[in-house]
Amino acid sequence: MKYEPKKFETLLVSVEGAIATITLNRPDKLNALNYRMLNDLRDAFIALDHDYDIHCAIMTGAGDKAFAAGADISEMADKSVANAHRFAGLGHVVGGRIEGAHFPVIAAVNGFALGGGCEIALACDFIYASDKAKFGQPEVNLGVIPGFGGTQRLARRIGIGRARELCYTGDMVSAEEALRIGLVNAVVPHADLLAKANETAKKIALKGPLAIAQAKRVLLRGADVPLPVASELEMQGFASLFGSADQKEGMAAFVGKRAAVFTGK
Ligand code: COA
Repeated sequence: MKYEPKKFETLLVSVEGAIATITLNRPDKLNALNYRMLNDLRDAFIALDHDYDIHCAIMTGAGDKAFAAGADISEMADKSVANAHRFAGLGHVVGGRIEGAHFPVIAAVNGFALGGGCEIALACDFIYASDKAKFGQPEVNLGVIPGFGGTQRLARRIGIGRARELCYTGDMVSAEEALRIGLVNAVVPHADLLAKANETAKKIALKGPLAIAQAKRVLLRGADVPLPVASELEMQGFASLFGSADQKEGMAAFVGKRAAVFTGK
């Protein structure tokens, strides 16, 4: 089902060819994630995930300063225990939607990615950072802990020791430090960030989309199960692709010394 362009209160969503771009759009509040924005993200990802012509997505922040400076503190301040649990649950639903999408999502972090902002970036497949980006889990400064998956996804991405350090100190790290600790895949000059993300998205979009979706699923689900189970997931995923026209085309193109043209079938 083709993605129907929609107006979101807190997001800009555009699709160009096979690439969707989702821009968090509350720049005057440094794109802080409020209830509306989390709902919009969930709805946008449900709609985009139905469009199998989308082969890659980029998530970034509006304005020059922030990807997202965290969950909206003023909105959170008076929450009850039950409502805080629901709010965290919604953050986890969004993370799950990003991870569950059939296409990879590249986070293009253009400034502050703090708290929930860092957590949403971590739910993306990988992160490119502008040289102005800053990352951190500063929740302890507010008397709380990460609630949108930070303690878990951060530890899985950079190792538990470094995740503990960031979660206990609340310190911000520069893009260069984020690169050194494996939080981001590349740091690029601020002005080149979207071009870099688009270049990689285009490269991914030219591959067989069934293979990319399968790789995404196996890399994600395999990370949380014992190696023999993960290996079985990989074998099943590998074998299932031999039922696709894309596998026949990819291998025939190699043998015929021509470029493959994948159709997602
Ligand atoms: N929630 C709600 N509003 C936020 C916000 C957040 N997480 N982060 C920034 N804002 C708002 C500010 O209140 C301010 O709004 P105002 O102009 O109406 O007063 C606006 O965004 C600009 O932020 P400001 O603090 O003036 O910018 P700065 O450049 O001086 O500082 C930060 C930038 C990121 C260091 C600072 O905004 C900050 O510490 N934000 C909170 C980070 C955080 O703790 N996130 C985790 C939340 S769980």
